Amino acid sequence: MTKRTAFWIFLLGTLSSAVLFLLLTWDTHRQVEVLSHVDKLSPQVIEGKRIFEKYNCNDCHTILGFGGYYAPDLTKVVRRTGEDGIRFRVRSPEKAFANSWRKMPRQHVSDAEIENLIAFFTWIGEVDNNDWPPQDSRKRMTRSEEIAVAAGGLSPGAAVFQNRGCMNCHSLHGKGGNFGPPLDTVGRRLTLEQIGHYIKDPKSVNPRALMPPQKDLSEKELEVVAKFLAGLK
Ligand code: HEC
Ligand code: HEC
Repeated sequence: MTKRTAFWIFLLGTLSSAVLFLLLTWDTHRQVEVLSHVDKLSPQVIEGKRIFEKYNCNDCHTILGFGGYYAPDLTKVVRRTGEDGIRFRVRSPEKAFANSWRKMPRQHVSDAEIENLIAFFTWIGEVDNNDWPPQDSRKRMTRSEEIAVAAGGLSPGAAVFQNRGCMNCHSLHGKGGNFGPPLDTVGRRLTLEQIGHYIKDPKSVNPRALMPPQKDLSEKELEVVAKFLAGLK
């Protein structure tokens, strides 16, 4: 290759990447208003963001990946724990995380402030973030993950229970959260079918249920976790 060819490759390569980069940036900016639902940015949402800053929640938590990496990302927290789940955790973190090795301090956030925080989390959770940060994507267990889990001695149902957020609220053998009841003997109380319905749509079984519907589970995950729980007697 002559020096001249190298020069042209360098120049055209750099220019075309630069143009592509600018076009993509422009395209994202063009879509920001739609992706982030600017129309839903109510004064309450904005107040919630201020409260998030007032209590320095982002010293430990991230939102859209920005913040401290000590505690879970809160972008999709409404979907994960439900609104009552947030109220409970912020009001009494010492109870919510009693069995956890990581601790969240109790900060005496007022009830009105918690409602504003929930409005903010609801808005941010609806931003179309192209599944970023990735831990919040609707991840399914792949076949190889299932095999790996089986090899580790955990049944697929137990693995779903452990990895899909159930333990934030429920305990087994004394490990896990206590917002929901311990499930050690749930198979005595409920049939396989009732458990399946409960996980998918708690209000269909118990109209006053506080448990949020577990919408992120695939049919397969639902089936294996319900079987696992029905077997606990
Ligand atoms: C000193 C660090 C720290 C601060 C400050 C903090 N948290 Fe936390 N938070 C944690 C930890 C650690 C957890 C996870 C505990 C666990 O699951 O083991 C957590 C969990 C949570 C959860 C549950 C998340 C989930 O996915 O289950 C919510 C909701 C939450 N925090 C909200 C807040 C809010 C709102 C604030 C500000 C008012 C705040 N946190 C301030 C450390 C903190
Ligand atoms: C945000 C907290 C929360 C999460 C996450 C959660 N649950 Fe629950 N769950 C509850 C609460 C609270 C109850 C008690 C009844 C009610 O208020 O809904 C409950 C009840 C249940 C029951 C009925 C128990 C009984 O004795 O009646 C089953 C079964 C159940 N949960 C399974 C699951 C499974 C499986 C997962 C994970 C895929 C899960 N839950 C995730 C809060 C939660």
